[in-house]
Amino acid sequence: MKKLFLLFSLICCLPSWGANKMKPWFNDKNLILTGVYYYPEHWKESEWERDFKQMHELGFEFTHFAEFAWAQLEPEEGKYDFAWLDRAVALAAKYHLKVIMCTSTATPPIWLTRKYPEILLKDEKGFSQDHGARQHASFSSPLYRELSYKMIEKLAQHYGNDSRIVGWQLDNEPAVQFDYNDAAQKEFRHYLSDRYQNNISQLNDAWGTSFWSETYSSFDQINIPQMSLMFMNHHQILDYRRFAAKESSDFLNNQCLLIKKYAQNQWVTSNYIPDYSAGHIGKSKDFDFVSYTRYMVYGDDDGIGDRGYRVGNPLRIAYANDFFRPITGVYGVMELQPGQVNWGSINPQPLPGAIRLWLWSVFAGGSDFACTYRYRQPLYGTEQYHNGIVGTDGTTVLPGGREYEQFMKEIVALRKTAKDKAVVPTDYTARKAAILFNPENSWSIDRQKQNKLWDTDRHINHYYKTLKSFGAPVDIIDESKDFSHYPILIAPAYQLADEALVDRWRKYVEQGGNLVLTCRTAQKDRYGRLPAISFGGMISSLTGDKLDFYDLLLDGRTPGKVSFDSKDYDWNTWGEILIPGKDTQVWASYDSEFYKGKAAVTHRTLGKGTVTYVGVDTKDGELEANVLSKLYKELNIPVMDLPYGVTIEYRNGMGIVMNYTDKDYTFQLPKGAKILIGSADIPVAGVLVFAD
Ligand code: GAL
Repeated sequence: MKKLFLLFSLICCLPSWGANKMKPWFNDKNLILTGVYYYPEHWKESEWERDFKQMHELGFEFTHFAEFAWAQLEPEEGKYDFAWLDRAVALAAKYHLKVIMCTSTATPPIWLTRKYPEILLKDEKGFSQDHGARQHASFSSPLYRELSYKMIEKLAQHYGNDSRIVGWQLDNEPAVQFDYNDAAQKEFRHYLSDRYQNNISQLNDAWGTSFWSETYSSFDQINIPQMSLMFMNHHQILDYRRFAAKESSDFLNNQCLLIKKYAQNQWVTSNYIPDYSAGHIGKSKDFDFVSYTRYMVYGDDDGIGDRGYRVGNPLRIAYANDFFRPITGVYGVMELQPGQVNWGSINPQPLPGAIRLWLWSVFAGGSDFACTYRYRQPLYGTEQYHNGIVGTDGTTVLPGGREYEQFMKEIVALRKTAKDKAVVPTDYTARKAAILFNPENSWSIDRQKQNKLWDTDRHINHYYKTLKSFGAPVDIIDESKDFSHYPILIAPAYQLADEALVDRWRKYVEQGGNLVLTCRTAQKDRYGRLPAISFGGMISSLTGDKLDFYDLLLDGRTPGKVSFDSKDYDWNTWGEILIPGKDTQVWASYDSEFYKGKAAVTHRTLGKGTVTYVGVDTKDGELEANVLSKLYKELNIPVMDLPYGVTIEYRNGMGIVMNYTDKDYTFQLPKGAKILIGSADIPVAGVLVFAD
């Protein structure tokens, strides 16, 4: 009887996995599930049980297998061995660890590479990669795809109906390859001939090939563009980058469909590096959701204060959350560093507390799981200096491991009273904003920057950073989303546009939306060509402005000045001199140069909504921040005023405040709030969790 009760209470405390109707894969009551990578093939089999036992005792709920194990799974072509993996899965299950299974397409075995060297990636200079590292196979090679699919299908047949396997990760950090392999050249030509209805004059028109005698007479004359050539046709590059992104997402999507033939109640995802401008994330349509990997401390100095490099950039996880979550509404974090890494410019120890801070940041953004790379520190191979949850002896828990343990205990305690994920305060949702993002804009701008100091990411970040200081929930979205869900929609430097998009913006505004457009928006068509209308004229009827001309200033000289509400702000990267229409208010004007007094920022009402146009990119983003403050004020939406480095989010009826600054921060708790974790005085790298 006692035994039965024990078993029952153990089952009650274990998270439940699997489908429910409203939200298929994860259960809100679990808050977040935490797991860790394990590579059985790296360790003596006699140690596996000890490791899984300790993993479970620390609080981990799942593990992650077979990510790079193709050589062990298919030691010879067509000969498969899953027996060792079966034993690992069984032992993990003994310690209540569910498993994420992987497709090891990032590491082809040597028999494959030697027998079929044509699958190797080739760079622009013709250099082919070789066995001995990883990620050296071409996603465009039909042969590589075929061999991958064969192995994946066997794995899916074997594990697809196994309830110990909760989901699948495809490949590892799949990238968009700039691959000059012959197969890729061939595929690129097919792609173009489909895109342009097998009509070469359509392509010549889209690419403007009358310029410099670039005209093609057939698709098979076209090569992958040489990206390193300064004067390479940038319309061609735009199409090539679309193609390259598609090659990765198609390969992954095919893997996904194959697994879904066999998978019973198992989800499929991949673990992307948040390389926002690569163009493939979210484009494999059959995935259940996307997940990301994120490393915070690796020698970059963009944290706050002297020791900020030990904590990391305060918005690095927040931005990834806000980018990945809106894709399907569900996301996970597949890799977070457990301590020192081995590949940075300098690999310092994270500040005590920082690892737990990252975990809470992942939770705050809405993730359903957090997983760390990796359980044991490797004893050999490329990543010997990379920390694990435990150190080189395989059992001593490292400081980062202890922070994981603490986080997992905190989560388990909070599960007892957890509310649904969607329970958040109304003043928080009232501030909600979306940033419209399309990587093609930066592909296009980057080939014709006009000012070497221009930085599209920095430009977007000025707006993002401001919204986070307001305590606003932000979704980074693409054009597939319904804009009307957002009171505020910002399209920063959205260079490539067409009439259909401008119409959608107009409708959004007329029906009550508040649109913020910024410089460099809608100045080119989707092929990267300037339309034969006045420069920037595609959005004139929306903003009410005409664009007179734009100016760029030399760095290191007296900066340009722009005046807004009696204060001057410096700028030099991009300034558009606007001619406002009759019903357009001028919010800011230039305060220097021969266009002193001319409009830089305008605002107007249109239908039930508003359009704000910010024609200038400033150095520090303070002008942009104050423009957004003014807009929120005009709209009567109260905002917070958090210092850079302090972020707040809500989920499951809880507020989570994170301190990435170099000072303690005292948070003004809302009336009646109850502290669940931490205190209102939040130390450096500390976290406060309260019930709202
Ligand atoms: C990631 C990668 C992992 C591991 C890790 C080391 O980028 O996905 O496989 O190499 O880096 O920090």
